[in-house]
Amino acid sequence: MLSAEQLRELEAAVGAASLILDERRVAFAADELKVPYLPHAVVEARSVADIQALLRWANRHKVPVTPRGAGTGLSGGALAVRGGVVLSMARFNRILEIDPVNRWAVVEPGVINFQLQEAAAPHGLFYPPDPASWESSSLGGNVAEDAGGPRCVKYGVTRAYVLQLEAVLPSGEVITCGPRTRKGVAGYSLRDLLIGSEGTLAVITRMVLRLQPKPARTLTLLALLPDSASACALAATINREGLTPSALEFMDEAAVELVRGDLPMALPEGCRSLLLLEADGGRAEAEELAERLGHLCGEAGALDVWMAEGGEKAARLWEVRRRLSHTTRERFAQKLSEDIAVPLDRLQECLEACRRLGQAKGVHVLAYGHLGDGNLHVNVLSREEGEASLARMWQVVEEIFRLAVDFGGTITAEHGVGCWKQPYIGIELSPQSEQLQMNIKRLFDPNNILNPAKIFSWPQIEEFDA
Ligand code: LAC
Ligand code: ZN
Repeated sequence: MLSAEQLRELEAAVGAASLILDERRVAFAADELKVPYLPHAVVEARSVADIQALLRWANRHKVPVTPRGAGTGLSGGALAVRGGVVLSMARFNRILEIDPVNRWAVVEPGVINFQLQEAAAPHGLFYPPDPASWESSSLGGNVAEDAGGPRCVKYGVTRAYVLQLEAVLPSGEVITCGPRTRKGVAGYSLRDLLIGSEGTLAVITRMVLRLQPKPARTLTLLALLPDSASACALAATINREGLTPSALEFMDEAAVELVRGDLPMALPEGCRSLLLLEADGGRAEAEELAERLGHLCGEAGALDVWMAEGGEKAARLWEVRRRLSHTTRERFAQKLSEDIAVPLDRLQECLEACRRLGQAKGVHVLAYGHLGDGNLHVNVLSREEGEASLARMWQVVEEIFRLAVDFGGTITAEHGVGCWKQPYIGIELSPQSEQLQMNIKRLFDPNNILNPAKIFSWPQIEEFDA
């Protein structure tokens, strides 16, 4: 517990109005995976000064502080696994500037991704990173996790769109990382170190994000394929042919089975896998790209290729795709959802191996994801509740991680390590690499107060008040 004296000091530091000590803390306990860690206190910061005061207090008392955006994460990055204080950034929710000349937006981290999309559109601009959760995830969380999304196959992930960050270090000092220009090579890139650091190095308080001119047209294609093997082959062919769709989203046989009834069109017999593609660009360019993609889909054995420019069906297709993570959670008793990536030419082999692993342990494996990035959301699912099946599911996940790394890929392409993949970090990082990164963390945060026990193999630390 926090002592009465500690609480008095905390209240003096951040103000009573920003401090939550009652049952409202429950709303800050879990992320999208719904495993709760109830913090001892929540601070809803209203200013940079609040954050500075909180972190100085935390250093004095060695209390963990876990920053939290909208709580839509999938790796436990925002969970107070060692208790202490959750620092909610939800009140940092202003879009401060949209600058069409410099093509940037200045935003606070609590702004929801989609709000920036809406604010940029009247200027003929858009913010390319579009995680499936863009209607609910915050830009600060997106930067902290270096989020990806469907459009990243063409436009690159969050990292490519961060120009400058203002952040509070665990010591309470404020730093500005990176210039506002697109180019800038003065010193090490602290900005790039903070991007994807999962709230362990600093608390981001302001961000300058790059915007792109909105393409004149976007065409949507749905390839109805006989199996996932042809989908994987098609992704490789599209790449080899030098084409760059602005989305290349995949659903395997099990995923198609799950959403068949939710789709805006009936799928013909024999269609067991889907690729949802987009072609964007100038008027003629988008159309030419869509035609070439459609042609390749036909050559790859598509039973049919459906095409549209906007409209209700396309919107519904995207809704079904963006909701897939929720759909799997709703329809299975237990779910582990991963985000491995492998080189494009190993996709089919990887998928088959994942299924064999599932079969061997008697758990259900379903895959979908961003095929053009080699990024598969392999879901390991069970219709049974209980620890025994969960343990089998984790065994399968561990083997899937090994497979991804053996194939030259990664254990996490977009969701981060957080606490759930932390036990497996050694599968991907060498001991030297991990030690070096832990030393960087120590340099930023000698008392290990900011989001402790995440990402790396820290020696067992007790809960701070245990
Ligand atoms: C998606 C999330 C799970 O792509 O990353 O649906
Ligand atoms: Zn994804």
